[in-house]
Amino acid sequence: MPAEAPQPVNRRVLSGMRPTGKLHIGHYVGALQNWVRLQENYDCFFFVADWHALTTDYADTSRVKDNILEMTFDWLAAGLDPERATIFIQSHVPQHAELHLLLSMMTPLGWLERVPTYKEQKENLKEKDLNTYGFLGYPVLMTSDILMYQASFVPVGEDQVPHVEITREIARRFNQFYWLDGERRYSHDRALDEKKRVQVFPEPQPLLTPAAKLPGTDGRKMSKSYGNGLLMSDPEPVLRQKLKTMVTDPARVRRTDAGDPAKCPVFDLHKIFSSQEKQAEVREGCTTAGIGCIQCKTWAADNLVTLLAPIQERRREYEENPKRAWDILEAGSVRARKAADETLVEVRESMHMGLGYEAPSKGAE
Ligand code: TRP
Ligand code: SF4
Repeated sequence: MPAEAPQPVNRRVLSGMRPTGKLHIGHYVGALQNWVRLQENYDCFFFVADWHALTTDYADTSRVKDNILEMTFDWLAAGLDPERATIFIQSHVPQHAELHLLLSMMTPLGWLERVPTYKEQKENLKEKDLNTYGFLGYPVLMTSDILMYQASFVPVGEDQVPHVEITREIARRFNQFYWLDGERRYSHDRALDEKKRVQVFPEPQPLLTPAAKLPGTDGRKMSKSYGNGLLMSDPEPVLRQKLKTMVTDPARVRRTDAGDPAKCPVFDLHKIFSSQEKQAEVREGCTTAGIGCIQCKTWAADNLVTLLAPIQERRREYEENPKRAWDILEAGSVRARKAADETLVEVRESMHMGLGYEAPSKGAE
């Protein structure tokens, strides 16, 4: 914990996802389930980070709109509730761009160059030219998303924690340059006692989503880019077929060989989707060659299908009437713009760039 003055704490939560289209079950157990829980007790803002998608995919935007809708279907199917949470599209709230610009002015280049994903992604995505201003500035855009709603908590996976760290650093830097007085007005008095300063931005905390190990069908991490995912929207026969082809403990070649669940990606699925009893049954059957892998995979598929059935049922309602999902995003964007404007008024005021007329000050400083 930093040693600064106590931060104003609210119950705002903010998180976002890039619009990658249909989500896989890793997104569900990793993020969505957590978001659905959070909306019960927090003032949640969840958004589609379509501008973020541009940082790597600026050259081809043809799929953006479809991807936004498909992802939103999965969000709503999982149980995100527009009555409880504000669900919106980043680019429909252009205020994010204004805050991004202001924060970009005070963000040292070194902070951005040090972000681990910057070098990694540039290496990994060699086929794209990522030598762009926008790609380097990605963490500033993410900072704007978070600070825009003065959020206290940001549920993210481990890979995003460095970005929340930089958000905290940028918030701190802003708060050192600018603040408001007790009436939430521009404070001319640069000597104003630190304790009397009203800070515009709370420093957000990451809420680390406990990442269950979720392998794809080839045993590697489940990921869109590997094409090894089990999708939330996969119909039952597809799920069953994908499970059939899933790799198992490589030592278990014949039906009569005993296996080790600890070395089997199918068992990782059981750990998430099956009861303790079923897991014990699998452990026993696998290590004694009492059951075959086909049986074991059928059980895993059964549980997955049961879990996804009501989700897919809800998804179908939106697929049949996609405009409903779009309307939810638009209504959420209206709410988000309102909240964003409230922050920007304070930001501008604190920077002495409020919109109101002021007579020129004579002889001051
Ligand atoms: N960078 C995140 C990702 O790629 C998405 C994101 C954008 C985000 N802005 C955010 C997440 C703000 C949390 C808060 O997954
Ligand atoms: Fe994996 Fe199940 Fe086969 Fe054991 S029985 S190797 S846990 S699929």
